[in-house]
Amino acid sequence: MSLCHLLVISGGRSPEHEVALQSALNVVAAVDRKAFDLAVVGIDKDGAWRQLPSDDFVRHRDDPTRIALAPGGRPVTLCCREGRGWMVPLDGSPAWPVDVAFPVLHGAYGEDGTIQGFLALMGVPCVGCDTASSANSMDKAITKRLLQAAGIPVAPGVVVTRGASWPTAEALGREFGWPLFVKPARLGSSVGVVKVKTPAELAPALTEAFRYDDKVLVEQCLRGREIECAVLGNDAPRASLPGEVVPRHEFYSYAAKYLDDQGAALYAPADLPAETTQRVQAMAVAAFQAMGCSGLARVDFFLMPDGSLAVNELNTIPGFTRISMYPRLWQCSGLTYTELVGELVRLAMESHRQRASLCTSFT
Ligand SMILES: Nc1ncnc2c1ncn2[C@@H]1O[C@H](COP(=O)(O)OP(=O)(O)O)[C@@H](O)[C@H]1O
Ligand SMILES: [Mg+2]
Repeated sequence: MSLCHLLVISGGRSPEHEVALQSALNVVAAVDRKAFDLAVVGIDKDGAWRQLPSDDFVRHRDDPTRIALAPGGRPVTLCCREGRGWMVPLDGSPAWPVDVAFPVLHGAYGEDGTIQGFLALMGVPCVGCDTASSANSMDKAITKRLLQAAGIPVAPGVVVTRGASWPTAEALGREFGWPLFVKPARLGSSVGVVKVKTPAELAPALTEAFRYDDKVLVEQCLRGREIECAVLGNDAPRASLPGEVVPRHEFYSYAAKYLDDQGAALYAPADLPAETTQRVQAMAVAAFQAMGCSGLARVDFFLMPDGSLAVNELNTIPGFTRISMYPRLWQCSGLTYTELVGELVRLAMESHRQRASLCTSFT
């Protein structure tokens, strides 16, 4: 039996380039080489695609501050021929048929639907969410609306766009109290997220958030535990045991995530009553379906002292680093890293087959 040709794509043009490399190292290490013929493409920060050796695509792998794509390799692109996708070296060497691609890319140009759209155009099955559900989940304002429409609780808040006049601190304070959270709508890693404690801090926080996006959310501060749940599947998604993040900073900021080794404690699984676990799992699946997700997503919650839940956000390509929640939660739910990668590929093929079987002409 011929091996399945799996293309792992990592790096990318977002501030999360380095985190993506750490994730990709772990995904590649978990790939079952008896089932897959593997190729790795690194996307440079300027957008260039290079095929690199699958077992040597990263430099300084153990130093998160210096980790980088290996130099050299072969410039490549993708094309669609005979109804399927190919990786095509630009030096004229033979093309490689791609059976499935796993974009291990976080943030912009990775989780926002762009790479998913490109792979769909090229006829390549893609691990994870499709273009629309990726783009919608990346946008916290759209996420809030879709979840609310499905009856799923979210943090109360308003959307401010660059062109519109800003709401006054008095009006926001009256509606939501203090502190408030201000955050760019379509970013990740807590970049541009500010906890606003007093009216005087509001305008600088909005200015900071508008450096990163034209759309900004102002939210009520939810004083709850931060619970995360991994979802896996297409039409019948299942939820893992929930985990918990306990930030040791003011909130789960960029520094707490990446700069401070002791910035947060991660518990997988979280210490929760069985009844709460079940509610988290049911709501995680409901949120996944409300967003139209497929393949995988990590659904992040606030669990309030009274036991109520609110969904904070969905991450459609969650971290896959050694300590990341998504694979850890599946491990403690009985799925090894290698089984998880195999299942993600199977789900990608299944979605692709379903889409391909749809009628494409009306005659
Ligand atoms: N409404 C809120 N109430 C309390 N904490 C919040 C709120 N929104 C964000 N935070 C804090 O900021 C962190 C980052 O915000 P989040 O919306 O998850 O953005 P990102 O996509 O950058 O992770 C959260 O993990 C949490 O610690
Ligand atoms: Mg988050």
